Amino acid sequence: MEIIDNRVEKQRQLIEKLQQRNVKLERFYDEYKRVFRNEGERIKELNCLYQVAQYVVIESDTDAALDKIVRIVPHGWQYAKESCARITFKDNQYLSPGFFESGVVQSERIFVETVIVGAIEVFYKPGLASESDDPFLIEEKNLLKGIADIISFYLEKQRDNENGKLIQQQLLHADRLATIGQLAAGVAHELNEPLGNILGLAQLSLKLPEMPDQAQKDLEKIEECVIYSREIIKKLMEFSRQSPLSKEKININEVIDNSITFLEARCIKEGIEIIRQYTENITVTADPNQIKQVITNLTINAIQAMKNGGKLIIVTRKNSKNAVLAIEDTGIGIPADNISKTFMPFFTTKDVGEGTGLGLSVVYGIIRNHNGDIKVSSEPGKGTIFEVCLPLEEN
Ligand SMILES: Nc1ncnc2c1ncn2[C@@H]1O[C@H](COP(=O)(O)OP(=O)(O)OP(=O)(O)O)[C@@H](O)[C@H]1O
Ligand SMILES: [Mg+2]
Repeated sequence: MEIIDNRVEKQRQLIEKLQQRNVKLERFYDEYKRVFRNEGERIKELNCLYQVAQYVVIESDTDAALDKIVRIVPHGWQYAKESCARITFKDNQYLSPGFFESGVVQSERIFVETVIVGAIEVFYKPGLASESDDPFLIEEKNLLKGIADIISFYLEKQRDNENGKLIQQQLLHADRLATIGQLAAGVAHELNEPLGNILGLAQLSLKLPEMPDQAQKDLEKIEECVIYSREIIKKLMEFSRQSPLSKEKININEVIDNSITFLEARCIKEGIEIIRQYTENITVTADPNQIKQVITNLTINAIQAMKNGGKLIIVTRKNSKNAVLAIEDTGIGIPADNISKTFMPFFTTKDVGEGTGLGLSVVYGIIRNHNGDIKVSSEPGKGTIFEVCLPLEEN
């Protein structure tokens, strides 16, 4: 009896030991599964991040890069098959294949410098987790933040590239205008003297007694043509910075008001509302007549661009270095192809007799002669802004 009891007791102990070992094994197996799964997840996440980084290095087109990124994003998530992603940037959306929207979502904002320009979101299918539970892992939250940061970096790089190109184009443009200026100055100078002689002789001849009627008419025509030609030469000389400056301290708002008074009646007649947005007390040292010329030429162009009425907005402001004067219209705008040509002498889209194509060349010459700068931005069908910068008096 005692022997049997001992055997039962031993078996019981053995079972207990085995049970304990089993529990340990189960724990070990659970731990093994957890670690293994975690490692699998981490590898997926790293792979996703690596691919995103690859795209931003090799892809120079923003649309193509964002499209590739959004396709790869869901692969980095735990429930890859039940997830999808969306990138929003400005007015565009980039979607991963089979996109759906649901309340189970994780999102990060995309910045360029400090400005929010878009967002990246990852959605899980509804029902995968109750909407109050957060099914996303901490690592997935970090991953999304990392991807958003890479996209921000990429967009900043793209913007810098664009700015670089623009500056290069502007330099090329300024160079070309300088060459045209030199050429124009040379021609203008050569023509000015003989034209002066022709004018003088025509005017002398007109004073001759007993001039036949026809000859009188012809001489008057010659006089008229020479005066017109000299006007053009004067404009060319202004463009090529050949005309002397007579600088004084001027209040920019006053000069604007003086320049546009004679255009106000025309604006009312043509249904154009003038809106003044002035900053007080902006003084620059400049030639008042030439600045008047700038304002007049820009304003006339703006009026001519608003055949069906509109708004003429005149803004003055200053920044640390410059007085800024902007003339904005809501007219026909300038097609992108023409923007770089607008300051070229004789470039005009107006009918014969309506424009010589020298107005903006003169403006350009005057502004450069004052060590200033002029920029144009336009949207066809919406309007145009010309922005003039002149160094502030205190500089
Ligand atoms: N505000 C504007 N809106 C739309 N187009 C403009 C504007 N300003 C200039 N342009 C375009 O630029 C061209 C050149 O302008 P610019 O003032 O040099 O010459 P123009 O107005 O044609 O002739 P001019 O000034 O000699 O009478 C214009 O013909 C027009 O196509
Ligand atoms: Mg003009």
